[in-house]
Amino acid sequence: MSTTVAASGLRHVYKGGTVALDGVDLEIGAGLFGLLGPNGAGKSTLMRIVCTLLAPSAGAVSVFGHDAVKERRAVRAHLGYLPQEFGAWRLHRVEEVLDTLAELSGLDERATRRERVDAVLDSVGLGDVAHRKVKKLSGGMRRRLGIAQALIHQPRLLVVDEPTVGLDPEERIRFRQLMATLGRERTIILSTHIVADLGTGCNDLALLDAGKIVFRGSPTQLLERAAGQVFELALPLSAPQPEGDFEIVSRTDSLNEATYRAVAAPGGVPDGARIAASPTLEEGYLAFMVARGRAEALVSDEHFGQHDKVDLAEPPSATDATGKEAHP
Ligand SMILES: Nc1ncnc2c1ncn2[C@@H]1O[C@H](COP(=O)(O)OP(=O)(O)OP(=O)(O)O)[C@@H](O)[C@H]1O
Ligand SMILES: [Mg+2]
Repeated sequence: MSTTVAASGLRHVYKGGTVALDGVDLEIGAGLFGLLGPNGAGKSTLMRIVCTLLAPSAGAVSVFGHDAVKERRAVRAHLGYLPQEFGAWRLHRVEEVLDTLAELSGLDERATRRERVDAVLDSVGLGDVAHRKVKKLSGGMRRRLGIAQALIHQPRLLVVDEPTVGLDPEERIRFRQLMATLGRERTIILSTHIVADLGTGCNDLALLDAGKIVFRGSPTQLLERAAGQVFELALPLSAPQPEGDFEIVSRTDSLNEATYRAVAAPGGVPDGARIAASPTLEEGYLAFMVARGRAEALVSDEHFGQHDKVDLAEPPSATDATGKEAHP
């Protein structure tokens, strides 16, 4: 594995004393890398350090062998960044935005720039709206323009922070496919708390929780954590919602019974339950957090509440589609 990013002993304490990163060691190779974690885990802090925008309180990060504190310029030359918030340029046309950024990145010759802009717009599927003003783009298109601006100087590393917040399901799928395609030719670090967003293109991920890496491996390995922990329990419609050492992810009602699907902590599968045959990656993530006694972090996660809970509660066909996409 050729190392793109290497972090060692990384620690970051904000003014006021919040410990955002608490001893992170991480090596990232080529391809699409997922950085998963609940709200406040430290994902954005880690990404801003990798992008040279924030100096860590302790420890070191290198990007393609260059130190992210001492050699900022060298690191930035190889790096494209889409921050969690990307809102400027509303009144400009899509192609103008990119042309200007291309010029700033050192492409002086107009014709070359034109080619570059066209190629980048095509690669993110915005070729047809090159003349449109940014404010007239949909949320998904705006995110893709964000990717286009980060790609204009052909960086070897692309860092993308929570790219799908606020996007509708269709746009999220499209974004996922774009990441998988772009990840074939470069390294992408993608941070999210929505497991399905990692998609099929992601074969390596880390789980960050309260400033520490608590899992590192493939989606398949994360999925293995859910083996035997995801169950279904059928109860009479009138019975109260079951309680125990598990988190309920969905309830499906038939004529005379309610079937609960839930993820249990070790030893928490209740009597009379049936172990689910094919857990989703999302359930693997939840199983991991439940076992750590940290399910709270996900359930209270405002975004998890908005997107994932809804996804999980969708009818089986919809859940299957999402699940398959997330599976390796
Ligand atoms: N500028 C700041 N000043 C003080 N504390 C901060 C600052 N930025 C973040 N924090 C705190 O540091 C911790 C980690 O924040 P960070 O934004 O890195 O998490 P995150 O994983 O990106 O969360 P989210 O999923 O909500 O984007 C949180 O407790 C947060 O409140
Ligand atoms: Mg963040």
